[in-house]
Amino acid sequence: SVKAIRGSFFDITRVVDHPEEIEAHARLVEDGLLIIRNGCIDWFGQWEEGKGRIPSEVRVRDYRGKLIVPGFVDTHIHYPQSEMVGAYGEQLLEWLNQHTFPAERRYNDREYAREMSTFFIKQLLRNGTTTALVFGTVHPESVDALFEAASRINMRMIAGKVMMDRNAPDYLLDTAESSYLQSKALIERWHGNGRLLYAITPRFAPTSTPEQLAMAKRLREEYPTTYLHTHLCENKEEIAWVKSLFPEHQGYLDVYHQHGLTGHNCVFAHCIHLEEQEWDCLKETDSTIAFCPTSNLYLGSGLFKLHKAWHKQVKVGIGTDIGAGTTFNMLQTLNEAYKVMQLQSERLSAYQAFYLATLGGAHSLGLDEKIGSFATGKEADFVVLDPVATPLQQLRYDNSTTLRDKLFVLLTLGDDRSIYRTYVDGQLVHERG
Ligand code: GUN
Ligand code: FE
Repeated sequence: SVKAIRGSFFDITRVVDHPEEIEAHARLVEDGLLIIRNGCIDWFGQWEEGKGRIPSEVRVRDYRGKLIVPGFVDTHIHYPQSEMVGAYGEQLLEWLNQHTFPAERRYNDREYAREMSTFFIKQLLRNGTTTALVFGTVHPESVDALFEAASRINMRMIAGKVMMDRNAPDYLLDTAESSYLQSKALIERWHGNGRLLYAITPRFAPTSTPEQLAMAKRLREEYPTTYLHTHLCENKEEIAWVKSLFPEHQGYLDVYHQHGLTGHNCVFAHCIHLEEQEWDCLKETDSTIAFCPTSNLYLGSGLFKLHKAWHKQVKVGIGTDIGAGTTFNMLQTLNEAYKVMQLQSERLSAYQAFYLATLGGAHSLGLDEKIGSFATGKEADFVVLDPVATPLQQLRYDNSTTLRDKLFVLLTLGDDRSIYRTYVDGQLVHERG
């Protein structure tokens, strides 16, 4: 099947080593054409140059006046926490006990997991997110339900079952052995099935015994193309707790590192309070950080040093971290990321922000050959943004002269109303009401 999309397209065309280089690779094609064949980008360029390539029976979808960008990549989110976003009052450890664990308990019910998977994917799509790295619950059924829902639209999604064998309520515990067997069965069923990929997912060091971490390592050795997804150095109390649970280790990251859980496609959410040798270890092992600004502000965890990650050349993606995060929306998340930088007397430019949410995010997940820009051959996941979704945005847009300014306004004032259409695998999957 062939589709032809006309409109203004914006992307960052290349993976960069330094954030200052991003702007040089920003590309705006004001009157552009995207030709999609079988879910992949067959041709992309100027309308005038490409219009002769459109097969005569194909009707052009005309989005002139909108701005088309690659689909957003959310590098850290919990699907079983949608129902407790905005739970009042506590920081990480109390928040987990009071709100999170009881919410996750319900996912032992397959029907409930199915309903919530559908809800979750709809929320991603109505916010322009077309790829996500997702936590399930400890229940393997929760992951089956999510992958089934994603596979229905051939969405590129990475997810895994939580491994957690201590320091949580009994109703949410597995064992080292059962977590290994259940994860293995899920990997066999889903990893590389269509566009789906599996992430081995120990929740965080405090909820796994050394025996369970050894099982996670074994899985990673048996399935080297899977991901490793966990939390790291989010909260000071959490860090002190890890040090008391693992006194023989040099620090929090060392627990993962000594268990073989660092490396390419190992994704660590938060990383707010890293020590110098932990930054170095992340760099040396080619690990990835998921920066989750709304969550870090909401739980009062702290301010992530994105500038330091850039300086150290550690890969970073951006995550919403629902339900500690407070929005599924990537524009709103970038808006908060900008403010987190401001509070540290640093800056996040519009180009850098869009890079984090698209090609940079894809790169942080090892997927930059497949998604994140409009390069020929890539998978056709993209968002049609409405830059003037509200009267204020219209006013501000009319008073912007440069692309830089327009983009910045979009990510400062934008939200789900800005998401006009979402396409996954070349198919229209969300239309704004
Ligand atoms: N650390 C361990 N589990 C969680 C979780 O569910 N959310 C957040 N934000 N941090 C965690
Ligand atoms: Fe999280």
